[in-house]
Amino acid sequence: MKKLVLATRNKDKIKEIKKILTNLKCEFEILSLTDFDNIPEIEEDAETLRQNAIKKAKVVGNFTGLPCISDDTGLFVDYLNGLPGVRSSRYADEREDVHTATYEDNYKKLLKELEGVPWEKRTAKFVCVICFYLPQKNKCYTRTGEVKGYITFTPIGKNGFGYDPVFYYPPKEKTFAELSTEEKNLVSHRYLAIKKIMAVIKKFL
Ligand code: IMP
Repeated sequence: MKKLVLATRNKDKIKEIKKILTNLKCEFEILSLTDFDNIPEIEEDAETLRQNAIKKAKVVGNFTGLPCISDDTGLFVDYLNGLPGVRSSRYADEREDVHTATYEDNYKKLLKELEGVPWEKRTAKFVCVICFYLPQKNKCYTRTGEVKGYITFTPIGKNGFGYDPVFYYPPKEKTFAELSTEEKNLVSHRYLAIKKIMAVIKKFL
């Protein structure tokens, strides 16, 4: 069976991406960074999601010699001029060089920054960039998925991860953390990006 490596160590992303790929009838053996030793640490220090996604996919693809896909995701809040954006995972970090912020620290900081901001101004979007990299050809392909919603006043729901408890998704009238895994995986930014990249992957593998 052909192999495809997920260039991430984030267990929540691995779980979601594997389920989405299975739903899309992907016929590859899916590996992730937990299946390899000594993969170099990758600093996600680029200025765009796309650049970060390409960087992760190239490091892992060149190291393993296998086709791989990476995911870089951010939550862009209009009232904050797009923050936390590309810094979503490090939003509440107190130091640039030490990553300690938990999912909860990050969404609590976001709620604090939006204190007193009325509902209609709390618009936001999740953007997910997926990069597919073929090391033998040194070729990268990127596709993007986006979903629009609102940042709630308090966290609601126990499912999902990251900012899901504070991201209200109008078509379902729920936060992403109130959706079941199956429901989220049929509408999410990640699902939309993966669906697009699968069309590319199928041409090459
Ligand atoms: P990165 O793509 O690893 O840089 O992740 C960015 C951050 O965005 C993560 O640490 C999470 O906090 C958040 N994030 C990524 N994907 C999702 C999602 O599907 N729902 C909620 N938060 C997410």
